Amino acid sequence: MKFLLILINIYLLVKCDNNVDIPSQSVNRTVVPYNTIVGYASTNVEAYSNGNDSQTTTEYNSLYGIFMGIKWQCVEYARRWLFIRKGCVFDSIDGAADIWTQIDYVQRVDDKKCFSVKKYSNGSPNRPQNESLLIYNRSGIALPFGHVAIIVDVLSNSIRVAEENYDSYLWIGNYSREIPYKYLNGNYYIEDKYPIAGWISIIDYNQTKPLDKYTINNIIKLNGTSPDFICSNNSIYSNNSIYSNNSTYHFISFYSYLIFIFVLLKNYCM
Ligand SMILES: *[C@@H]1O[C@H](CO)[C@@H](O)[C@H](O)[C@H]1NC(C)=O
Ligand SMILES: *[C@@H]1O[C@H](CO)[C@@H](O)[C@H](O)[C@H]1NC(C)=O
Ligand SMILES: *[C@@H]1O[C@H](CO)[C@@H](O)[C@H](O)[C@H]1NC(C)=O
Ligand SMILES: *[C@@H]1O[C@H](CO)[C@@H](O)[C@H](O)[C@H]1NC(C)=O
Ligand SMILES: *[C@@H]1O[C@H](CO)[C@@H](O)[C@H](O)[C@H]1NC(C)=O
Ligand SMILES: *[C@@H]1O[C@H](CO)[C@@H](O)[C@H](O)[C@H]1NC(C)=O
Ligand SMILES: *[C@@H]1O[C@H](CO)[C@@H](O)[C@H](O)[C@H]1NC(C)=O
Ligand SMILES: *[C@@H]1O[C@H](CO)[C@@H](O)[C@H](O)[C@H]1NC(C)=O
Ligand SMILES: *[C@@H]1O[C@H](CO)[C@@H](O)[C@H](O)[C@H]1NC(C)=O
Repeated sequence: MKFLLILINIYLLVKCDNNVDIPSQSVNRTVVPYNTIVGYASTNVEAYSNGNDSQTTTEYNSLYGIFMGIKWQCVEYARRWLFIRKGCVFDSIDGAADIWTQIDYVQRVDDKKCFSVKKYSNGSPNRPQNESLLIYNRSGIALPFGHVAIIVDVLSNSIRVAEENYDSYLWIGNYSREIPYKYLNGNYYIEDKYPIAGWISIIDYNQTKPLDKYTINNIIKLNGTSPDFICSNNSIYSNNSIYSNNSTYHFISFYSYLIFIFVLLKNYCM
């Protein structure tokens, strides 16, 4: 029931914007039809055209049984990028701008572990971070739901992003747009035509990785039953696990350690 409500919510509300003018020169202004691949970022995350303004679709996209979003909205791309590159997804939200206010965790699909996120306001002392989610505010008729893009590269004065539904142009490289940023009085400002709330990085302690065949098989076996977005304290990845790349191993070794301490104390005290 909750899922149904969420879907209805998404159906009604998750929209980004279509066909916004881009001042950038480095754009091939060939508008391609709905469902056409416009480019690839991060090796294997393709972006699709959402067509022109006169089209609205309400088709959902799922990957390996996991809900990604509405074809081909910005939120769908951000969630799919995170899934393919990090094995994680984020919870349903009404509009892209709500990621800024409502998303505090992402969840790894195959084991439901949650990772917290860190939010950097536009104008923060930290340089824009690669592989972060760039969040635009809701903004007039152009971006009524805000917008989300993925930062796929950080150059000395600009970032490169990958996204869907900002426009329907073919990409000229492995990114959709290059957006300048400037350093002013100790703070970094990404400067685009529309207001940017900031960027959101996943605090993953290097514990996430791109989906591989093994993980994909595990996810397919879940048959669409994950995740449920319960990020309770015992499912939140803590910094304890920083020393190991293999979470299962670490989990076991942590418990072995507890047992070891227990046995030690028991022998000592009794
Ligand atoms: C834009 O892409 C189309 C289709 O690939 C191509 O025919 C055209 O030459 C490109 N234009 C520019 C300016 O790169
Ligand atoms: C983009 O990435 C794809 C797949 O990784 C690659 O085949 C292609 O050559 C890249 N294109 C550009 C323009 O770098
Ligand atoms: C919008 O896309 C549809 C379907 O591809 C096409 O039939 C229509 O002519 C397009 N409209 C404009 C204004 O380009
Ligand atoms: C950003 O991350 C991508 C992998 O997603 C990597 O290929 C690229 O080199 C990174 N760029 C920077 C500036 O670290
Ligand atoms: C954008 O959103 C952020 C976070 O909600 C808010 O703090 C900021 O004032 C907004 N900026 C604009 C220009 O609306
Ligand atoms: C994650 O890995 C990168 C590259 O290997 C390293 O520079 C960074 O310090 C690591 N971060 C953490 C939190 O371990
Ligand atoms: C997967 O889920 C579908 C629909 O809920 C169901 O019909 C099917 O039997 C399930 N398959 C397995 C292997 O559990
Ligand atoms: C985790 O526990 C802390 C303190 O015990 C509590 O403040 C926090 O709200 C909990 N977080 C979640 C997501 O349950
Ligand atoms: C994680 O733990 C290490 C070592 O205790 C510490 O240096 C680091 O700052 C911690 N990172 C975070 C994000 O809490």
